[in-house]
Amino acid sequence: MMWSVVLLCLLAGARASPLQLLNEEWTAFKLQHDARYGSVAEEARAREAFENNRLAVARHNQRYALGLESYRTGLNKYSDLAPADFASRMNGFQPHARRQRPARPLRRGAAPAAGDLPGHKDWAAEGYVTSVKDQTSDCASCWAFAAAGALEGQVRRKGYKIEPLSAQNLVDCSTKFGNEGCKCGDTNRAFMYVYVNAGLDSEDTYPYEARDGPCRYDINGTYGWDDGFIDVNADNETALQITVAEVGPVAAAIDANGNFKDYKSGVYYNATCTTTVTHSVLVVGYGTDEREGDYWLIKNSWGTTWGEAGYGKMARNRDNNCGIASFASYPYLYDRMMTRHQTMINNN
Ligand SMILES: *[C@@H]1O[C@H](CO)[C@@H](O)[C@H](O)[C@H]1NC(C)=O
Ligand SMILES: *[C@@H]1O[C@H](CO)[C@@H](O)[C@H](O)[C@H]1NC(C)=O
Ligand SMILES: *[C@@H]1O[C@H](CO)[C@@H](O)[C@H](O)[C@H]1NC(C)=O
Repeated sequence: MMWSVVLLCLLAGARASPLQLLNEEWTAFKLQHDARYGSVAEEARAREAFENNRLAVARHNQRYALGLESYRTGLNKYSDLAPADFASRMNGFQPHARRQRPARPLRRGAAPAAGDLPGHKDWAAEGYVTSVKDQTSDCASCWAFAAAGALEGQVRRKGYKIEPLSAQNLVDCSTKFGNEGCKCGDTNRAFMYVYVNAGLDSEDTYPYEARDGPCRYDINGTYGWDDGFIDVNADNETALQITVAEVGPVAAAIDANGNFKDYKSGVYYNATCTTTVTHSVLVVGYGTDEREGDYWLIKNSWGTTWGEAGYGKMARNRDNNCGIASFASYPYLYDRMMTRHQTMINNN
């Protein structure tokens, strides 16, 4: 049985050389992701990155098959970027130098014991999360998408219809608060901008462009607001769990170096990950995987070919792996009058 399978593979392999197969894979990749390159040299560079990524993915998945890793990797639309290019184009979280943690107490009353919390939470399944966005490799605006995602959840919690908020509004306009648009930014500075500006446009009003532009905030397209932000007790996964369970989706930052960019499924764990965080994500829930243990459920902003349709699971309660609980925060919202565009949900 075994031998016949091996034999079949050998026969099939005899028809096309490894180079032909690689050529076909590269052609398929370009077609699938509509990848275009400006020059022959540019394409050669992209193909070299693709081949290296492909090899790294295959090697990692062999380790996964042997039970040595807790997650699988795979190719995605960014697999034609070399790791260093990927990091500089996609990872734009840059914490404010004087970021204070925590800015305010998490709760006024006594915090519930972790045992009282639900064992599983998924705000996406409950309708508090909008569709997965793609920041593209032209703009390191992860911080803007994470901030918009946290706000979307809180606006929904105030009883309004869930609506994507404008990351471009944050990219263009929160520069006043020290953010650097497509270069990098801090989610808290985005929340500060929304507070001082007294509003954030909907994505519909102020669509994503993946480049720096002048601030074009349109007061009539406002769909979100906040009254500042709250930092989750730093490096404390229990505090993060309580917040996610009770408040909603939380903006967090992680050390996204290494093969996080190739993550496909399973629970991401990297024993040498640090708390020097580089990339913003939205923590939308948590749970426990039968095989790999506790995880945080995150929504990324790298399109739907990354991870599980744009979502991922990261190790939870394993010494704050990759710093997921180091820079977690969320906006807080007092009750407000509806703006023209906000639609109240009929809750019955
Ligand atoms: C917003 O709406 C008001 C009232 O309809 C209008 O006067 C104003 O010009 C609009 N502002 C923008 C920026 O479109
Ligand atoms: C972590 O947060 C929990 C919940 O707020 C709190 O009870 C606990 O004391 C915190 N641990 C540390 C080390 O700060
Ligand atoms: C784990 O994290 C470290 C530190 O960021 C990084 O250098 C390394 O490449 C990562 N390992 C993997 C397998 O991604």
